[in-house]
Amino acid sequence: MEIEDEIFGNSCQNGIGRRAMNVPSIMKALILVGGFGTRLRPLTLTVPKPLIDLGNKPMILHQIEALKSIGVTEVILAINYQPEAMARFLKDYESKLGMKITCSQETEPLGTAVPLALAKDKLIDESGSPFFVLNSDVICEFPIEKMIKFHKAHGGEASIMVTKVDEPSKYGVVVMEETTGKVERFVEKPKTFVGNKINAGIYLLNPYVLDRIELRQTSIEREVFPKIAADRKLYAMVLIGFWMDIGQPRDYITGLGLYLDALRNKGSSKLCSGSHIRGNVLIDESVVIEGGCVFGPDVAIGPECVVEE
Ligand code: GDD
Ligand code: MG
Repeated sequence: MEIEDEIFGNSCQNGIGRRAMNVPSIMKALILVGGFGTRLRPLTLTVPKPLIDLGNKPMILHQIEALKSIGVTEVILAINYQPEAMARFLKDYESKLGMKITCSQETEPLGTAVPLALAKDKLIDESGSPFFVLNSDVICEFPIEKMIKFHKAHGGEASIMVTKVDEPSKYGVVVMEETTGKVERFVEKPKTFVGNKINAGIYLLNPYVLDRIELRQTSIEREVFPKIAADRKLYAMVLIGFWMDIGQPRDYITGLGLYLDALRNKGSSKLCSGSHIRGNVLIDESVVIEGGCVFGPDVAIGPECVVEE
């Protein structure tokens, strides 16, 4: 209700209030948690990538908490690897968070599009509401409430969040109209320079997008987004603040630094202080620290660790 009120209030000022008024809140989200996480081995040999901690919290929990904070009530995890570990996590957090969290399982990795189509019955209900889709390995401040307003205002079929990077070739690159956000081209992992605004892995999609997905190994980035862009129905919202895909070791370390810095900027009380601390440091309460240790900058020490002299 809160979100709708805010959208209505905001959008009335620019004349799109009537359309926004008829669209219900976003209640559902799907998180893509498949793939083998090979780039984070050996960690991912024993723990699925989405359950690896960032700042002493499983990556995926940052996302689920952000979704919960804007009123999402049901999260579907599209999974194919280490489902047992994920099931244990779900059991714990469903009740802790008071949300419905279920798995939609593929028997083999089918890419980033088919898992959405396989979860169609869970994602779409009679309200016809759009739903969120997130890559499980991205960290930012998740401005998803803004994204709802953006999506409702442009009236297209799909919204994606984008951010600027220096080295765009390992991402999906977007060429867009700056004023409207309308995407002209979407090019996954381009071999030559196309632009430096990249797909941040957070989408808000209308149900119709699922009808575009063929039931064969396919990628939303290589096949679906380019087609929606060609139909002039794909819009991109530029993300404000930090962002990182933490699915590779070097980027994980950069992402941790950015995350801790954002905590510092928010004045978070979670960060440690004292003569043994250098820069931004998180240390779990259960950690045992012996004499003479100095920590930092940009580290997180997880539960049950013992740091010897
Ligand atoms: N269910 C399922 N099945 N999930 C999958 C599969 C699959 O076969 N393959 C990958 N995923 C999940 C991953 O767990 C991850 O959450 C997400 O889909 C994206 O996969 P990555 O392997 O991390 O892709 P990437 O980092 O190379 O590129 C993607 O993310 C970039 C932003 O971080 C693309 O979406 C790019 O366009 C984007 O810029
Ligand atoms: Mg990734």
